[in-house]
Formats: sequence, structure tokens, C-alpha cells
Amino acid sequence: MSPQNAPSTPPTPAGQPFFHFDQNRLFVESIELETLAKQYGTPLYVYSRAAIEHAWQSYARAIESRKALICYGMKANSNLAILQLFAKLGSGFDIVSGGELARVLKAGGDPSKVVFSGVGKQIWEMEAALKAGVKCFNVESVAELKQLSEVATRLNIVAPVSLRVNPDVDPHTHPYISTGLKENKFGIAIEEAVQTYQYASELPNLNITGLDCHIGSQITEISPYLDALDKLIILIKALSTQGITLQHLDIGGGLGIRYHDETPIDPADLINTVFERLTSNGLGDLELVMEPGRSLVGNAGVLLTQVIFLKPAEQRSFAIVDAAMNDLMRPALYEAWHGVLPLKLNTGAKAQTWDVVGPICESADWLAKERTLAIEQNDYLVIESTGAYSFVMSGQYNSRTRAAEILVDGDQVTVIRERETFDDLIRGENLLDL
Ligand code: LLP
Repeated sequence: MSPQNAPSTPPTPAGQPFFHFDQNRLFVESIELETLAKQYGTPLYVYSRAAIEHAWQSYARAIESRKALICYGMKANSNLAILQLFAKLGSGFDIVSGGELARVLKAGGDPSKVVFSGVGKQIWEMEAALKAGVKCFNVESVAELKQLSEVATRLNIVAPVSLRVNPDVDPHTHPYISTGLKENKFGIAIEEAVQTYQYASELPNLNITGLDCHIGSQITEISPYLDALDKLIILIKALSTQGITLQHLDIGGGLGIRYHDETPIDPADLINTVFERLTSNGLGDLELVMEPGRSLVGNAGVLLTQVIFLKPAEQRSFAIVDAAMNDLMRPALYEAWHGVLPLKLNTGAKAQTWDVVGPICESADWLAKERTLAIEQNDYLVIESTGAYSFVMSGQYNSRTRAAEILVDGDQVTVIRERETFDDLIRGENLLDL
């Protein structure tokens, strides 16, 4: 990101081309962010429809005229309106719960383009997905295979099955978001895959359709994908000698975005390389499935917040803002870096180093550390690149109501989630009869 508050070159939020400064004021598309902050209050999530569609196009263009399906990894941002946009674009969905399935259906998503991932699918979730007619279940264990076969037999439906294999490759990302290593809880060890497929082929009401693998998130190199792919290709060939042929290969999601100074993978580079490898191995007929989440929405959103108090001190100076770890958990959980900028530049405020922290009673309640910002009490700030894994991971700790969400489309503004009220906060709680 550019240096903050450099008077001559207004910074553009990292990797967020649909957010720009005009005369020292930050805009999303045609809307000035400060007007949104004032009108709808803070903390406030704001998304750009154009940014989402731009990110989608980088995948859509790369798969054009190829047998491929992009299933948006909706855990990244599952607001109904965002899902509606993806459904309209023709996207499929990668879901991990019955709740996510219900959201897809509510938003008009096509269940035949849904893949159901996750290590702990429950019986009711299997039933709902079978009845909805999902594209496939990404099965992660022998116990799950057995359970799925039983549920499918009882409902007299055939369950399309893909096994999620753990290829034991290092995606070089934060340990909490790495999933394809032996030590992780995810998938079936690749050495046990052939026998597990054989076992699956003997169980009633299962139809083996594919192979699945997801190695981690915020990955910025192609090589871990290719290391995994090479192992998967060997597996697909071994399966075919056993008479097990697959229709699709799902390589998961995980492509990183630019938060700070990362260089993300261009989806087209990855997709072209994968197709080349498949074709050169005689597997050009396989349908390619991908489950990107963060790379489709992460840079399409920001979090607006207002400075409540400034607390300068000798050791560390704190800018206490009205967004907190309950609104954005990534810094507390992963020490994640998000850019911070004032919504107005060159206001005459003195630049100084601040830790940007929330009002919650936890030392982990910080959003950014040691940032040079020229700010004053009541100024508005933007926390960058918070379109993915941000609102969805928010909570109500300290009895804080969850933020509102806004979608901007050109000069159109839609509230896609109302700010929670105190009544929302206590809904379902009962007082005792004392
Ligand atoms: N498919 C599966 C099976 C997944 O587990 C995930 C993400 C995705 C697809 C989408 O991955 P993406 O393209 O978004 O990297 N909360 C963390 C990220 C957790 C990712 C979990 N799985 C964060 O804030 O960085």
C-alpha cells in the first residue's frame, strides 16, 4: 500500500481498484464513503458490486469454452444479496452446512451446482442436501461414507460422491488456514484413497463422481497447487486401473488476495496450467471444479469505523474506534494485516503512530498495530480488504450488536443487512420466573 497521508499522492487501498480517492475523499464506485458512514452509522461493512463482478470475471474468462464449474466458497461472505449476485453470474456454491444450503436456495442458487464440503456433516444436513439435489458430497472420512450411504438408502436417493483427499502438501500460508497437511483434520490421507474409493464403490446408493482437494487459504504461489495436482493425477490413474472413473476434479479454493504487498495468483495462470497438466496426462475430459471464496469477495469490501477517543502515550498510542474484534476477528485470530486509512486526507491533523483498537475488554481486541495516521477524534477510518471472512466471523461479544452491510452499485446504495438492534441481541433469551 502507498504511504498513508502522503499529501501529493493519495493512496489507493491495497488491491481494491473500485475504492479510490478523489480530492482527498475516499469513494467506492460513485459513492463517497463518509456519506455512508454518516447516514448508516458505524461500524459499517460496504461492498462494491463492480469489484465482485470484476473478480468473478477473472475466473469466468479463464474457464470460458472449457468444462469447468466455479463454486463460490460462500463461507467467505454469505450475505443473501451477495449470493444472489453470484447465482445471477451463473456461479455454483461450495457449502459446508445445512445453513449455507438454505441460504443458497433462498438466494436462488442452483442446487445442481452445489458441492457440499466439511468434515462433520450431520444426518439432517445430508438429508437436506440429498433432497435438494446437490452436485456432490465432498466426503472426508470412511465414517461419513457409511453414514451418507445409510441416509441415501433410507431416502431412496443416490448420493453423488467425491472424496476429499489430503495430499500432504505445504501451502505456505498461516497454520490456522492450512488444510492439506497430514497433521490437519481435513480429508482422507492420499495413501488410503484407492482403498477408500473401492470401499465407497461397494456401498449402496453412492455414485462416485469425483475427486476433491483443498489445501489451504490465502495461497500466493502456484507450486503447492501443482504439487497437489501431480499427486491427484497419479491417484486418478490408479483409480482408473481399478475400474473407477471420475467425471470431475475439484481443486478447492485458496487463492490469496493483496492485503498489503502480496502478489496474488492470477486465476487464469492457475487454471491454464491445471488444464495443460490434465490434458498432457490424457485427462482433458475431466470437468474442473474450483471453490474460490476470498479471491472473489475479499477485495470487494471495507469496514468503516469512527474514532471514539485518541489515547496518546509514551510507549504506545491508541486510537480507540467503534469497530472491534467482534466485528473483525482476523487480526485477533491470525494476527492478520489489514490496511487502515482515514476517509479524508490532508485534514491538517498531525501524523502519528497509532494502534487501532476496539472498545472490547480484551487485549486481543486490536485491528491494526503501529500505523502512521493523521487523525483526530470522531474521524472516520476504513479497514481495507474486509469483504471475506470478516462480517461472517463477527459476533456479539460484550453485547455489541452486529454491523450493517451495504452494497454499492454505481450510484445505487442498498442496505443488504440491517444493523442489529438490542432486541435482536436478546432474541431467544428467557427471563426466569423469580
Ligand atoms: N473450499 C473449502 C473446502 C474450504 O475449506 C475453503 C476455506 C474454501 C473452499 C475457500 O477458500 P478461499 O478461496 O476463501 O481461500 N477464516 C480464514 C480463512 C478460512 C478458510 C476456510 N476454508 C481467514 O480469515 O483467513
